[in-house]
Amino acid sequence: MAKQEDNFKKVISHAKEYGYVFQSSEIYDGLSAVYDYGQNGVELKKNIREYWWKAMVQLNDNIVGLDAAIFMHPTTWKASGHVDAFNDPLIDNKDSKKRYRADVLVEDYVAKIENKIEKEVKKAAKRFGDSFDKKQFLETNQRVVEYQEQATGILKRLGQSLEKEDLVDVKKLIEELDIACPMSGSKNWTDVKQFNLMFGTKLGANAESAMDLYLRPETAQGIFVNFLNVQKSGRMKIPFGIAQTGKAFRNEIVARQFIFRMREFEQMEMQFFIQPGTQKEWYEKWKENRMKWHLSLGMGEDNYRFHDHEKLAHYADAAADIEFRFPFGFKELEGIHSRTDFDLGSHEKFSGKKLQYFDPELNKNYVPYVLETSIGLDRMFLAVFSNSLQEEELENNTTRTVLKLPAVLAPTKAAILPLVKKDGLPDIAHAIIEDLRWDFNVKYDEKDAVGRRYRRQDANGTPFCITVDHQTKEDNTVTIRHRDSMEQERVAIADLKGIISKEVDMRSWLLKMK
Ligand code: GAP
Repeated sequence: MAKQEDNFKKVISHAKEYGYVFQSSEIYDGLSAVYDYGQNGVELKKNIREYWWKAMVQLNDNIVGLDAAIFMHPTTWKASGHVDAFNDPLIDNKDSKKRYRADVLVEDYVAKIENKIEKEVKKAAKRFGDSFDKKQFLETNQRVVEYQEQATGILKRLGQSLEKEDLVDVKKLIEELDIACPMSGSKNWTDVKQFNLMFGTKLGANAESAMDLYLRPETAQGIFVNFLNVQKSGRMKIPFGIAQTGKAFRNEIVARQFIFRMREFEQMEMQFFIQPGTQKEWYEKWKENRMKWHLSLGMGEDNYRFHDHEKLAHYADAAADIEFRFPFGFKELEGIHSRTDFDLGSHEKFSGKKLQYFDPELNKNYVPYVLETSIGLDRMFLAVFSNSLQEEELENNTTRTVLKLPAVLAPTKAAILPLVKKDGLPDIAHAIIEDLRWDFNVKYDEKDAVGRRYRRQDANGTPFCITVDHQTKEDNTVTIRHRDSMEQERVAIADLKGIISKEVDMRSWLLKMK
């Protein structure tokens, strides 16, 4: 646990030191769970968004984009169920006065059990070597089976109690598990209460006539209320999807873990409108499609897993998370939800407007069912960033800190370094930049010895360093150094574009989804 915390602290401080993520309003001591993205962070975020948008919109015939406003008519949130049901179970510790999400306390307890399982697996893998069969071990090792049963039993009970809104049983569960306040160790808990997560605001200058609004807690509703506009203006035929990226706001009770759980964050959501009755098939298809998207980034199959929901949100008939191994354990990265006709049906009721589709194949009108994929951009950022940050032991007994970002997402694709600041080398470096910058984000770096510049670019996540030296003046060649292997090769300046392109081009990365 201490090692995990240590690693996570390194991620947070590296993100700040290299201009990726800053605490919001830091000079005023910050604002809890609100963050700003610096000069590198904004590029990484933009690249992740684009990687998602290309896969979702550009490469699909039947998915189009949308950019709906953050402010929406307040009845939207009544219809969506958020006014009545967008709550988290809250519990206070009477001694430390700290507030927690009751379900998170229980989930953290379960995560500790899962850690124990992982430790047993690692130990056994070491003991048995090549003959180790993980599946068989998980199914037959008595201790591991008991741990698994315990974890499943706890999550099941939690899910059922939350489903029934039985908050008394949630508290009972916390007491039975002997869960203590992580800050103080005290077990003196209040009752569990529901807490609505939406932020309220007002529209209009006049106090009497101002309208109470909410900042949207999800982007999805902007898609639902525009379903007919897009379907009719785009002559869309079911099945089709509408994709959107944008800010969402939630007054999270426990806002910790850096950009994992924020109060202002960005979502990338897609609603896929389908014939009623086909939802199971589309649910499986989209689960598979989204997992392929993640795996295309090459961050390790072992770092992902599906988690099927016990407790379903008020709108869903099936739901699964894609979980990622964050520095603090496996946690939700993306949700795939079969939302039935709940949202469109409810908006029909509340607005009095028909939100139906005439299906020429079936020759009838119906309210479409919806399959949703929903991923937090900031959470994806954290997954990519934390997984990429590595300390490497080098052959000469030194270490290097390297940010092995998937090259396609890296903020800067290449740094151009003149070996020395004289003899015309900077001019050649600038000329190379002038040429490459039309296709890639490239940077000039002339400060310090070249070895230090390599280290700086490694820590920054830059996949290539291109060094201009005296030989360049004679034969128009440079050395190109690869961040991950640290290998260097001498290449012609004229070939640089092709070499970089091969590694960073979205096409070749996204083709891995096929
Ligand atoms: N429209 C469905 C929906 O919003 P959700 O599971 O509440 O579903 C979807 O959120 C995704 O949004 C999550 O999987 C997560 O990646 C991201 N997300 C949710 N709350 C977040 C928060 N407070 N901070 C950062 N990301 C968040």
